[in-house]
Amino acid sequence: MAAAPFELKGKTVYVAGHDGMVGAALTRRLAREDVRLVTVDRSEVDLRDQSMVFRWFAQVRPQLIILAAAKVGGIVANNTLRAEYIYDNIAIAANVIHAAHLNGAEKLMFLGSSCIYPKLAAQPLREDSVLTGPLEPTNEPYAIAKIAGIKMVEAYRSQYGSDFISVMPTNLYGPGDNYHPEYSHVVAALIRRFHEAKLAGATNVTIWGTGAPRREFLYVDDMADACVHLMKTFSGPELVNIGVGKDITIAEFARIVAAIVGYRGEVTFDHSRPDGTPRKMLDVTRLEKLGWRAQTSLKDGIELAYRAYLSAG
Ligand SMILES: NC(=O)c1ccc[n+]([C@@H]2O[C@H](COP(=O)([O-])OP(=O)(O)OC[C@H]3O[C@@H](n4cnc5c(N)ncnc54)[C@H](OP(=O)(O)O)[C@@H]3O)[C@@H](O)[C@H]2O)c1
Repeated sequence: MAAAPFELKGKTVYVAGHDGMVGAALTRRLAREDVRLVTVDRSEVDLRDQSMVFRWFAQVRPQLIILAAAKVGGIVANNTLRAEYIYDNIAIAANVIHAAHLNGAEKLMFLGSSCIYPKLAAQPLREDSVLTGPLEPTNEPYAIAKIAGIKMVEAYRSQYGSDFISVMPTNLYGPGDNYHPEYSHVVAALIRRFHEAKLAGATNVTIWGTGAPRREFLYVDDMADACVHLMKTFSGPELVNIGVGKDITIAEFARIVAAIVGYRGEVTFDHSRPDGTPRKMLDVTRLEKLGWRAQTSLKDGIELAYRAYLSAG
């Protein structure tokens, strides 16, 4: 694996998706680097629109690109908006990666997701398990679009020698998360449910499934720090997982969230609802060898996320 010290100093860096949860964390983290940060709103450049993207890139010519724009959501959104998930995410990846190439970008980082790994891949999930088996059907359109992005990065590296890299973050949470009642991820959903239960004086919150599945959660500012670290230190065709390398049962996790939110009622589990994969955790050996580890504990991270939820109103 190539270790390539790469100088960010003085570079024009484009964060695509700057007002999303991850993009906002990246812009917070990049504010501590000596770079010129550029962003553009969707109202000016819809990244699904090739001509808009090509025109904007030709004008701005960003030297570094972090591609954190995507259509993202929880299981319900992924499973119902299947056409939008595959079309938007393929179009965004294709347009941005090709525009970066056409305009001589020095480096590009593509953000994938842990759902690109096969449903039954061995745990913890290693980078080389990609495309070794069938995907989880509920988010297959999203995963296929992400795999297309990864394969573009690989192909541009091999045909043009582009310094394009792909990273695979685990489940993220933190400021700017999506709290939509149906379309959110598990952390945001639990924060919202416990908060609402506390306000309503409810005595019970029921969570789908047995609570036994194990999941891994990474605070989004840690993830942004890992991205900047990898932009500086990593160049290679291999994927790099970004996670904490530790997991927790949904039941334990729910109790931590409830305690932080201040919900004092009961937490019960509806065993008639599906559990999903028993365990989902990334193997972070490669990331650790590259010199990075997560710093924020789950408790601190949830506290920060809850504070951000409250101040967002
Ligand atoms: N959240 C997680 O747990 C997680 C885990 C692993 C990987 N990731 C990856 O991290 C990246 C960002 O995720 P996130 O959680 O930050 O999602 P998010 O909060 O929904 O943000 C997505 C961003 O993409 C922008 N976007 C979407 N479609 C666009 C379009 N057609 N044109 C221009 N901009 C568009 C959104 O802009 P608008 O605000 O205008 O819609 C928003 O800024 C994604 O690639 C995702 O796969 C996330």
